[in-house]
Amino acid sequence: MRVSVIGCGYLGAVHAAAMADLGHEVIAVDVDADKVAALAAGNPPFFEPGLPEILSSSLASGRLRFTTDISEVAGARLHFIAVGTPQSNDSGAADVSFVNAAIDALIPHLGDTDVVVGKSTVPVGTAQRLAERILTSGSSATLVWNPEFLREGFAVKDTLSPDRLVFGIAPGAHAKQASAALHEVYAATIAAGTPVVETDLATAELVKTAANAFLATKISFINAMSEIAEATGANVTELADAIGYDTRIGRRFLNAGVGFGGGCLPKDIRAFSARAEELGLGSSVAFLSEVDAINLRQRERVINRVIADAGGDATSIKVAVLGLAFKPQSDDVRDSPALDVARGLVDAGAVVVAYDPEAMGPALKRFPELTVAQNAQQALLDADIAVLVTEWPEFVDLDPRNVGDLMKHKRIVDARNVLDPAAWRAAGFHYSSMGRP
Ligand code: UDX
Repeated sequence: MRVSVIGCGYLGAVHAAAMADLGHEVIAVDVDADKVAALAAGNPPFFEPGLPEILSSSLASGRLRFTTDISEVAGARLHFIAVGTPQSNDSGAADVSFVNAAIDALIPHLGDTDVVVGKSTVPVGTAQRLAERILTSGSSATLVWNPEFLREGFAVKDTLSPDRLVFGIAPGAHAKQASAALHEVYAATIAAGTPVVETDLATAELVKTAANAFLATKISFINAMSEIAEATGANVTELADAIGYDTRIGRRFLNAGVGFGGGCLPKDIRAFSARAEELGLGSSVAFLSEVDAINLRQRERVINRVIADAGGDATSIKVAVLGLAFKPQSDDVRDSPALDVARGLVDAGAVVVAYDPEAMGPALKRFPELTVAQNAQQALLDADIAVLVTEWPEFVDLDPRNVGDLMKHKRIVDARNVLDPAAWRAAGFHYSSMGRP
């Protein structure tokens, strides 16, 4: 099929390459000429395992092109809207101006039987409004909503073999044809066994919001338990293992630590709360403010723990911060707990040397005063204390004996609960973690 993808950020670039990989002919559009040039040369402007490979092969096949000229989308049957919906500058609400602009730019180039497929995460009600916008422009193209659930670090796999496909389609004359077009574009994925949930526009929008709210709640739940565990001498990891065996609960997303960050979960729960307030239903999701508060408290907990474990005076310590990305296999530092911990320690007066295998460039853009090292060993050299804030495999696999030889004092705060306490203590370390004795 001929398809277009509007927006070449995380979501759009991966989606465009994945659609071409599935055999479709893809024209991908972005207003950022530098981004378009980099992608057209096969160089993603962000770190994502597997993306360079499918990008190169799709470009080489001639099925994938990048452009800044929106008029080139004419002739495509499906148009995926994959632009960002960041948090507004002045509130928790989502800023949907990029989605509005994408639809307005697209409208003059739409054919009457085209299908516009929204993928961006939007406040419930947005799709209906956009459908009306298309209709009042005189176009008879159909708008559907097909939210994206990809995780950074697994974006290619999640796009090609997602857990489910959700098709939000408004009832009406074009519903059948729109559904057929979606089934056709995802034919290979559906044939591989991916379940399809076909529903209305509002439900499709809400599925995404609800999924992220649930995941965020799960993480904050276990972090709240880690606070209780810490005060009572209990072990939050063993607690998570034990409750996780209950298949109704499940073990995934029950890892206590410094909390969630990134470009999705934090802003999506805030946007959900803001939208619920607009609907006069703020109390229905009031718990999400608590989820947010628990999450942000973890960052403070880690900062305070580092200072306390190093003797209580931040101004006299050198701290090795291991990790800056919001999670491993990513160079994303948006709302990163790791970067906030580094910043908090600097603000408290500590000498901080940070290292991350992929995220130092993006981190320095946001926090230019941060001192970074060339590798973990350099960061650890003569440090009074280390704090592991992003669980990159190379940090998890560190040998405590080697680390001890580098540091001034053998002290480590494991803010992701990923190290073996016994091994680190056996090597002479003062070891502490989040909710484990
Ligand atoms: C998330 C959703 O998982 C994805 O479906 C949606 O499309 C976008 O938002 P992502 O932001 O890539 O994806 O990261 P995810 O793997 O969900 O992790 C989010 C954050 O939670 C990370 O900071 C991670 O470190 C943290 N986390 C995750 C925990 O602290 N504990 C856990 O048990 C799991």
